[in-house]
Amino acid sequence: MPAIKIASDIYWVGAIDWNLRSCGSYNTPRGTTYNAYLIKDEKIALIDTVKGGFEAEMLEKIREIIDPAKIDYCISQHSEQDHSGALPELMKAATKAKVICTQAGKENLASHFGTDWDARAVKTGDRLTLGKKTLMFIEAKMLHWPDNMFTYAKEDKILFSNDAFGQHIATAQRFDDEVGHEAFEEFTKYFAVIVSVYSNMVQEKIKEIEEMALDIKMIAPAHGVIWKEPKRILGAYKKWSSGESERKVTIVFDTMWQSTAVMADEIARGIIHEGVPVRAFSLRSSDWTEIIREIIESRLILIGSPVLNMNLYPTVGGFLTFLKGIRPPNKKAAAFGSYGWSKGLAVKIINEELEKIGFKVLGGIDIKYIPFQKQREECFQFGRKIVKEIE
Ligand code: FEO
Repeated sequence: MPAIKIASDIYWVGAIDWNLRSCGSYNTPRGTTYNAYLIKDEKIALIDTVKGGFEAEMLEKIREIIDPAKIDYCISQHSEQDHSGALPELMKAATKAKVICTQAGKENLASHFGTDWDARAVKTGDRLTLGKKTLMFIEAKMLHWPDNMFTYAKEDKILFSNDAFGQHIATAQRFDDEVGHEAFEEFTKYFAVIVSVYSNMVQEKIKEIEEMALDIKMIAPAHGVIWKEPKRILGAYKKWSSGESERKVTIVFDTMWQSTAVMADEIARGIIHEGVPVRAFSLRSSDWTEIIREIIESRLILIGSPVLNMNLYPTVGGFLTFLKGIRPPNKKAAAFGSYGWSKGLAVKIINEELEKIGFKVLGGIDIKYIPFQKQREECFQFGRKIVKEIE
């Protein structure tokens, strides 16, 4: 696949990873891209590189446009290896290039690669003139590492945002209007799993960008497609990071002898009866990344588990640990589950964990062994009642 021109003298020279299926705790069923951008002017700059293993793909694209030895600046917006892994090979070819990064980036690159590249640390507001084009840097600490930064191409009105506003989707298309709804779905998931834990910083950064009154025509992240509707994209981050959500419920559970599964179904039926959208996920047959995406969009989260060995079912315990790391803001929650001889135990443990996450806990329901008609009706009524808490 060749380099792709995205604006006058600006080219995508990244790589497509069609077969990536997980990235840490993150499932990536649609693969991803590692976006690097080459800017050609009197001086030549490369914004980010690609993951190690894709160096040749990136260098081949750069060579379609210029000799890599002519690169003056390699702007490393983030030191995580999916963006910096190709930097050693690039620096061998770009013999005169100076690395531009934040101070934290400079330290992180040294920790990752142990090299003495000629590196300049930049701060928010620092500028780099390439000729006709001017780049301005914006530190983006904890979006999502201490070293992240954005680069704003003033004349072309492009915000290069690295991980922020990214999506894990492998596609030959480079712009959002060339792909379907999948890009926005993956964008939501990406925020949920990678960014939402830093929601306070997202709020502050968007406010800062608004105060800078930057004229942004496109947002070019380091994964997935380029956004041509920056207002929609910034608005989505603003909304999700504030904890604003839909009147919608997510149910998450595991089950041993189907009792907790039956409870989940009956509770969902009660919620549907009240006209509220709901999705229920069995932890052993669902993609946990997808569940987190649903949770970000939901106002009420219900977690169900049977009691096993005086504790939660292991998958439920694991999921709560995962959720505790992400800490979605401004959610209400409740627990449910079945037991044999430990009434209240699963509900108590789940609710304690939900409180630690910061959710507003609304109570719970449990039943002994098997949900017969009477207990099913209780679960149905529980669903009807609990959903009224998110009117
Ligand atoms: Fe934080 Fe795409 O790496």
